[in-house]
Amino acid sequence: MEKLHKNLTDRNVDIRKVAIIGCGFVGSSTAFALMESGLFSEIVLIDVDHSRAEGEAMDISHGIPFVKPMKIYAGDYDDIVDASIIIITAGAAQKPGETRLQLVQKNVSIFKSIIPEISRRKCEGVLLIVSNPVDILTYVAQKLSGFPVNRVIGSGTVLDTARLKSMLSEHLDIDSRTVHAFIIGEHGDSELAAWSSAAVSGVPLSKFCEMRGHFNHDESERHIQEMVKNSAYEIIERKKATYYGVAMAVRRICEAIARDEKSILSVSSLMQGQYGLKDICLSMPTIVGSDGVEEKVPISLDEDEITKLMASAEALKEIASALDFSLPEIESGADGNEE
Ligand SMILES: NC(=O)c1ccc[n+]([C@@H]2O[C@H](COP(=O)([O-])OP(=O)(O)OC[C@H]3O[C@@H](n4cnc5c(N)ncnc54)[C@H](O)[C@@H]3O)[C@@H](O)[C@H]2O)c1
Repeated sequence: MEKLHKNLTDRNVDIRKVAIIGCGFVGSSTAFALMESGLFSEIVLIDVDHSRAEGEAMDISHGIPFVKPMKIYAGDYDDIVDASIIIITAGAAQKPGETRLQLVQKNVSIFKSIIPEISRRKCEGVLLIVSNPVDILTYVAQKLSGFPVNRVIGSGTVLDTARLKSMLSEHLDIDSRTVHAFIIGEHGDSELAAWSSAAVSGVPLSKFCEMRGHFNHDESERHIQEMVKNSAYEIIERKKATYYGVAMAVRRICEAIARDEKSILSVSSLMQGQYGLKDICLSMPTIVGSDGVEEKVPISLDEDEITKLMASAEALKEIASALDFSLPEIESGADGNEE
């Protein structure tokens, strides 16, 4: 295949094409958000339930006359070989009474059917993992695909960081886009806010808080961080699932990749010695461009934050170390077609 858009990438990908594997709540909301974004001219939807992918493609495509011309269709793995970004949202969500480890095993086995389909077709796009537990599944996708480290990204704490900014914006009555703060570590219970580097338009957060009449920093930080961490639980309790916020987070990551923005986003990717952490995926502020991860940004953390980051990495390592990466003898396609 001829190289497209040589100015942005040397890989055989069409930067105008994106694939979404898994068309449940998260996959279909993501497709809708991407359709509205105008970033892509082709969106391929894949689901083990092909008729669901077809239904979503039909429904979303009926909105095309209100946006920019594009194609959205249900396809199979042969259709995504030249996709510049392959988003994976396939997988079970946690059920009441189910342990986290059980969810991991369920979704790892789903990934064992999806990732080989992608790597055997020598896809050269960026893999963007959204399924949970996202850090573990990003690690699994990295191991199973054999892709270069920069081309496997998890949506990580991009959503949690947006939640943090949105809550700080309410707390301070200020535009959330002017807040610079990150949630780092695991996308989950051990995540932490990097308070010591947080700022509003260059003014350290605590100073800005005082300017806006808030002086009880420890209490506010604790409260806001808990609210961010518990957001998903609170939403799931009320409406059974979360999907719009994450769809917007995925759209933002896609934008950074498709437009080679080199934006700093708290995506999850393989740690390679930063803060002494290796062989585990977690979120840190990262420069994201057309080749995926360009570089992690070594923001300064205080002692307490370092301790929490190490604990977060440890929690992930414990789960990752129990994983089995062997693939079944015969792999069948998620669309049911064997090669
Ligand atoms: N990273 C985040 O911030 C974030 C936020 C919300 C949800 N999630 C996660 O996203 C995932 C999807 O959530 P949802 O609410 O859309 O679930 P859902 O049950 O609505 O959808 C999952 C979809 O995956 C499909 N699927 C299952 N196995 C497949 C396979 N082998 N190949 C292709 N498709 C397959 C199913 O048919 C279904 O359509 C869950 O793991 C959830 O925890 C992540």
